[in-house]
Amino acid sequence: MALPSPLNRYLLLMAQEHLEFRLPEIKSLLSLFGGQFINSQETYGKSPFWILSIPSEDIARNLMKRTVCAKSIFELWGHGKSPEELYSSLKKYPVEKMVPFLHSDSTYKIKIHTFNKTLTQEEKVKRIDALEFLPFEGKVNLKKPQHVFSVLEDYGLDPNCIPENPHNIYFGRWIADGQRELIESYSVKKRHFIGNTSMDAGLSFIMANHGKVKENDIVFDPFVGTGGLLVASAHFGAYVYGTDIDYNTVHGLGKASRKNQKWRGPDENIRANLRQYGLEKYYLDVLVSDASKPSWRKGTYFDAIITDPPYGIRESTRRTGSQKEIPKGIEKCPESHVPVSLSYHLSDMFFDLLNFAAETLVLGGRLVYWLPVYTPEYTDEMVPWHPCLKLISNCEQKLSSHTSRRLITMEKVKKFENRDQYSHLLSDQSLPYQGHNSFREKYFSGVTKRIAKEEKPSQE
Ligand SMILES: C[S@@+](CC[C@H](N)C(=O)[O-])C[C@H]1O[C@@H](n2cnc3c(N)ncnc32)[C@H](O)[C@@H]1O
Repeated sequence: MALPSPLNRYLLLMAQEHLEFRLPEIKSLLSLFGGQFINSQETYGKSPFWILSIPSEDIARNLMKRTVCAKSIFELWGHGKSPEELYSSLKKYPVEKMVPFLHSDSTYKIKIHTFNKTLTQEEKVKRIDALEFLPFEGKVNLKKPQHVFSVLEDYGLDPNCIPENPHNIYFGRWIADGQRELIESYSVKKRHFIGNTSMDAGLSFIMANHGKVKENDIVFDPFVGTGGLLVASAHFGAYVYGTDIDYNTVHGLGKASRKNQKWRGPDENIRANLRQYGLEKYYLDVLVSDASKPSWRKGTYFDAIITDPPYGIRESTRRTGSQKEIPKGIEKCPESHVPVSLSYHLSDMFFDLLNFAAETLVLGGRLVYWLPVYTPEYTDEMVPWHPCLKLISNCEQKLSSHTSRRLITMEKVKKFENRDQYSHLLSDQSLPYQGHNSFREKYFSGVTKRIAKEEKPSQE
């Protein structure tokens, strides 16, 4: 594939939150909008400044209509490690590419953005004055300019060691901001219906982006809880559907999770949550159903499965069982087929989830889910796999000093055949994964605290 012209270079200003989730988000969104991820930088690491090549400004704008990890995007006109380098790079930028934004009928404004340092007003004005050599012919308008230009200075990541001069300086034409405001406007604090495990708004949008959710998709959450993940997918125009084993959650009954409120009110349910954001038309349904026993006819129904299965910490991992499955020695009820609750091992739950996704996703559809792990024992081999699903990304979010959860994104790359159902269970690769079963015990065992205590002196 031909590389895009080096002149289609853009500067992304990334938010300094959920660092590991940023690259997969940007890659997923670019591929959703027909752009390939082509880096113009050696590493994206922890820096908030990312240079990348994007084939067109339209793709850059589409990216910003979706991203919650990036704050803004700029068409990059120049870049250097010192003011002199920046100016000489700007002088090389073709005038014909600048002129449409600088002509005499236009209005403009120049902003100074610094990372890890604050400049005085005087210093900012100095930087603006130094750009006089650029062919600006329009009028300055600070309130409502047609074009906004930015100088962005990077003083590194260490707040305890701020250099005198920036490591990097960029100049670009502002194109668009990302969707950071969704984190506030969809905050669970202001949501009608919430539970103890309602997914944080920012992460819900990140998950929908990793899942490449788009308009008119059908998105399913088999462990739907209060529907936090459905809300994010519906915001991006997908029709949403969910199941949960808990009758009260699905019907919005029972005890409220909010302080100072005993019982859930009449409008505390998933449908009302969607209505709250003007998204009710995307509600398909939510059902009481056990994810270990999916009741679907064979077929490919979903464009994405986005879910947060229980880890057994704040909610139990359980599945329905029948009298026959109750271990010997435990007294049985007289009627047969009365569903009883059995514990649902994490490893079984994830195998079921992958198998279900492999069967019911459309080709190219994505499964996005959280995998809880005990960090001292974690290895990448533990991540469950399936012959029909390709691992796209695996990002860690720390929960405590020794536990974390990993956001796993997989894409269906092969049609499901009956022989795929158990093939991944037979391989040696499934063995390390059994370790997940003891996640709950390890979380509560105090091992975590003890190790942390033991480690402390050696760090001092
Ligand atoms: C981590 S919570 C999901 C929270 C959800 N993302 C939200 O925003 O509210 C996991 C959910 O899985 C449900 N669950 C547990 N075992 C299940 C099973 N076997 N089948 C379906 N749902 C199950 C629990 O009732 C709980 O609501």
